Amino acid sequence: MRNLLCLTVVALLVSSGIALAVPAGKTILFEKSSMGTVNFDGNIHKDAGIKCNECHNKGMFPKMKQGTVTITMNEIYAGKLCGVCHNGQRAFDAKANCNRCHIKK
Ligand code: HEC
Ligand code: HEC
Ligand code: HEC
Repeated sequence: MRNLLCLTVVALLVSSGIALAVPAGKTILFEKSSMGTVNFDGNIHKDAGIKCNECHNKGMFPKMKQGTVTITMNEIYAGKLCGVCHNGQRAFDAKANCNRCHIKK
């Protein structure tokens, strides 16, 4: 069902000619950390060939809505949430690259 929903969203976006992304053509800002704002760019993830349901699934970010999951570094370091990929294998290692996610103002 969730996959179906995702596909429907994708189909709608494609048919309306809007660039697809995570979420559609936009960037989500996570602004709670003292380390600096995290700029989550949908296009970068889409261009890396990542499918919606690789992130939008039960164990990660079930809802396509901002603010439903609390992200902590402990979880990322433990290989959960963003850390499923940001572990130095599929994507750059979170432990060694704070400033690729956290942008100081
Ligand atoms: C690399 C991981 C990732 C991928 C891939 C991904 N998303 Fe997301 N998406 C997220 C995260 C993280 C959030 C915020 C969730 C939260 O805060 O609870 C989110 C939120 C959203 C939102 C809500 C945005 C808002 O402003 O509230 C929409 C809509 C969305 N995603 C659609 C999609 C669609 C459609 C796809 C596939 C084209 C997709 N996402 C792929 C990680 C991803
Ligand atoms: C399904 C795998 C996956 C997940 C989950 C994921 N990412 Fe990524 N992310 C990537 C890939 C692949 C890249 C491209 C850069 C690379 O190859 O290291 C990337 C790039 C980025 C970049 C661009 C940084 C730069 O310097 O180019 C940021 C910022 C980022 N991710 C933040 C996040 C955040 C925050 C989350 C969790 C909300 C997240 N990512 C979850 C795979 C993922
Ligand atoms: C892959 C992206 C990414 C990388 C790399 C990253 N973070 Fe984070 N970090 C996040 C996200 C997303 C949040 C949640 C912010 C929010 O909810 O507003 C967060 C939250 C935090 C928080 C507040 C929550 C907590 O766990 O205490 C701190 C402190 C933090 N990061 C420090 C760091 C440090 C230090 C590094 C490098 C060693 C780092 N981060 C690397 C994405 C990242």
